[in-house]
Formats: sequence, C-alpha cells, structure tokens
Amino acid sequence: MQARSESIRKQGKRIAFVPTMGFLHEGHCSLLKKGRVLGDDLVLSIFVNPTQFGPGEDYDAYPRDMEKDLQLAEREVVDAVFTPSREELYGSNFQTGIELEKLPNHLCGLSRPSHFQGVALVVTKLFHIVKPHVAIFGEKDYQQLAIIRQMVRDLDFDIQIEGGAIVREKDGLAMSSRNAYLSAEQRKTALCLFQALQKARKAVAQGETDTAKIINDMAFFIQSHPDTEIDYISICDPQTLDSVDRIQKSVLLALAVKVGKTRLIDNMILSP
Ligand code: PAJ
Repeated sequence: MQARSESIRKQGKRIAFVPTMGFLHEGHCSLLKKGRVLGDDLVLSIFVNPTQFGPGEDYDAYPRDMEKDLQLAEREVVDAVFTPSREELYGSNFQTGIELEKLPNHLCGLSRPSHFQGVALVVTKLFHIVKPHVAIFGEKDYQQLAIIRQMVRDLDFDIQIEGGAIVREKDGLAMSSRNAYLSAEQRKTALCLFQALQKARKAVAQGETDTAKIINDMAFFIQSHPDTEIDYISICDPQTLDSVDRIQKSVLLALAVKVGKTRLIDNMILSP
C-alpha cells in the first residue's frame, strides 16, 4: 500500500482517503462521493480496529460483509481498497500509543475510556500507510472528527481533513453499521434520538436558551420509550466540547442512548 501510494504521488495525483470499519452504508458512500471529487485517486480502508473497542464492547460481534462492501466500493468508483489483517497492523510486539488531552474528556470519551486513543492510533497508522493528501470523516462521529482535526494540527500531519454531513434513513435515524443489531421493535424506538434532537431544535428556534431545560425535556421524551437507557445528552461548545448553560451562539447538541444493548449516537448543531 505504501509503495502504491508513493507511485500515485510521483504521478502528481492527489490521494483522497476514507477510513472505515466496513459494513458500508450510504453514510460511508457519501464520504466516498466527496473523496471522489476531492482527489484523483480514492482509497477506502476497511478494518475493524480492535484498539478502539473496550472490554465487553462489540469487537467480536461487529457486523462484517466484505463482499457487499467491495461491491459498494466498485459502485463508488474507489481506486483501491485497503483491508489489512489485525496481525499486519498490530503485531504481537506492538507497544506504541497516542496520548490525547481535553477533547476525549467529554461525550463518548467518558463512557468509552481509551476509545479515542485507539481511534487516533489506527488513524495515524492508516495515514502513514495510505499517505493521503485529504481524508474525509463523518460528522455523525462529531467528537472523533474534532479529535482527528486536533491531532492533525498538533502533530503536523500534512493532510487536509474534511467533514461529511450525517446521512439519515428516510425517517431520520442516523445511518450506522450498528443499526443492524436492532430488532424491528428497537428500530422504531431508535427513532427517538432524532425526534429528541428535532424537539430541541424547535425549542431553540422558538427562543429557548436554557440548556438544562432542553436536556431535561429530551431525557423525559427518550425515557418514555421502552428499552432505552441514556448515556448522555450534552449541549456544548462545538470546538472545545465544554458544556454550555445558555445558548448564545451555535452549540453542539449530542447524545448517546442505548436501545436494548445497542449504543446509538446522534448530534445536531443548534443556532439561536
Ligand atoms: P465507521 O464507524 O465505519 O465510520 C467510518 C466513517 O463513516 C466515519 O468517519 C464516520 O463518521 C462516517 N459515518 C458513519 N455513519 C455515518 C452517517 N450516517 N453519515 C455520515 N457519515 C457517517 O468511524 C469509524 O468507522 C472508525 O472509528 C475509524 C475512523 C475507521 C477508525 O477505526
């Protein structure tokens, strides 16, 4: 892969890169479409990264379908698909990590300690292997995108980072590989994340600025659905992810909710 990238670079071409864990859906495809426009050469990686899963999380159960993924890659006119094995990326003597400060101490980082360290580590490795000029990440994982942007600035990666808007199912549920875990009943319940975001957006549009009130109303609404457990609902600064009490400028509203055993996330930018 490194030799391939080196030769593409020597031809004066721009490499666009979309890293994924596979089980591709239209959210991933929207990033590939963006990459197709941003680069002359489009690389997709598929790797379920063990270092970003905590003990008891779903590494083993994570859905995989390489055949369908390769079909979608072909449809999106991807030039190369990088599918390393676990052993190739993390040999038995692996001993290096990336340390992150501040940004992981919010939102998903609180209930998934060391998750973002694992993400930063694998993304760094993939950047060094794929050598992209530009890499595209989804806003669905808002905190991940913020951490990658920060890491790229802090560690002087010569890579442009682009975000892609959240792609939703027709009814509004944010697309996710993990939606495959949901039963028919849970799939209906899962819609409450998006509905809660919409309720909040409406309240803010009507002049509500008290974030405690907004979060309370959202929690009440979500808890009225069976089989739900709120991990967090946060209204925070879109750059620092620090909580805000009053909405005076654009804020990030982000939430994580377990529906049955499946942990779902979603977010929206709210403007007063
Ligand atoms: P994965 O969950 O497969 O997601 C790959 C990329 O697709 C991420 O940038 C994610 O934000 C984006 N994405 C997922 N669902 C989306 C949606 N509904 N709309 C728009 N974009 C969406 O995120 C990861 O993999 C991993 O952490 C990774 C970065 C590959 C490192 O292992």
